Amino acid sequence: MTPTSAPSKVIVSNLGKVFEGNTSGYAALEGVNLTVEDNEFVTLVGASGCGKSTLLRILAGLEYHTSGSVSCDGRAISGPGADRAMVFQHYSLYPWLSVIDNIKFSRKLKANRGEMVSSDVEAASGRADALLKLIGLDKVPGAYPRQLSGGMQQRVAIARALMGRPKVLLMDEPFGALDAQSREVMHDLILHIHRAEKTTIVFVTHDVEEAIYLGQRVVLMQPRPGRIHSIYQVPLPAERNQEMKHLPVFRELRAEILARIRESAGMETDVEQLGKL
Ligand SMILES: Nc1ncnc2c1ncn2[C@@H]1O[C@H](COP(=O)(O)OP(=O)(O)O)[C@@H](O)[C@H]1O
Ligand SMILES: [Mg+2]
Repeated sequence: MTPTSAPSKVIVSNLGKVFEGNTSGYAALEGVNLTVEDNEFVTLVGASGCGKSTLLRILAGLEYHTSGSVSCDGRAISGPGADRAMVFQHYSLYPWLSVIDNIKFSRKLKANRGEMVSSDVEAASGRADALLKLIGLDKVPGAYPRQLSGGMQQRVAIARALMGRPKVLLMDEPFGALDAQSREVMHDLILHIHRAEKTTIVFVTHDVEEAIYLGQRVVLMQPRPGRIHSIYQVPLPAERNQEMKHLPVFRELRAEILARIRESAGMETDVEQLGKL
């Protein structure tokens, strides 16, 4: 069956999630509607506990929703699939494998199971080499994770996720453990990867500046229950550069989103209450 050309890549419709045994009285997600277009870069921000990771894990098929529906390319998501790959905050590289073997790992498993013919293995090798170049680590294919900085390890994790040519790359605070300078480098790298690989990216962060710099749209979520507060179209050209962070439109959007996050997290109310003491 040839897949029909779906109008949107990912469609989240009236999605809800209540964790079993939840006693807070609030759903982790409630009434979430979101469509992500093919090749779009969407970022999710919001206060801690607003359901960002839960939504991403549902998209990855690692968690099941309790109401509504979610689909990728017109097919309901009911578990992990090769069309979607996830990158987590903590690089989950195999310490005993070199950079290149970490990237090839899932292909190796396939080959071992006899699911690949030799031309596939060759193609996979070429793909791994191309990815190594893309992430700027082609000089050190034989290095081991312990020899690499955190930023470099995360590059390898991204290359590994891209190995099977996923249509959608799901990233949960992938640069959260890196220092500010490494993060900037990673931002420009992931934008380059997005253009070069033409993947659709859904990227979770709690860093508003990161969300605006990377996203074509920023989805602001709020907690209790976890839901979408608003969706902002980022008024910046498709080709980003670090200088844009100083533009008035960038600063205004950051201030607006930060204010909304503070409100929804109840911080303003806390401060107001302190003022009354
Ligand atoms: N495995 C789980 N079991 C029970 N509750 C969970 C689980 N994972 C997340 N939650 C709850 O769901 C809500 C959303 O969590 P999460 O998606 O991790 O938020 P975020 O990533 O935005 O910080 C929180 O209230 C959290 O406590
Ligand atoms: Mg989270």
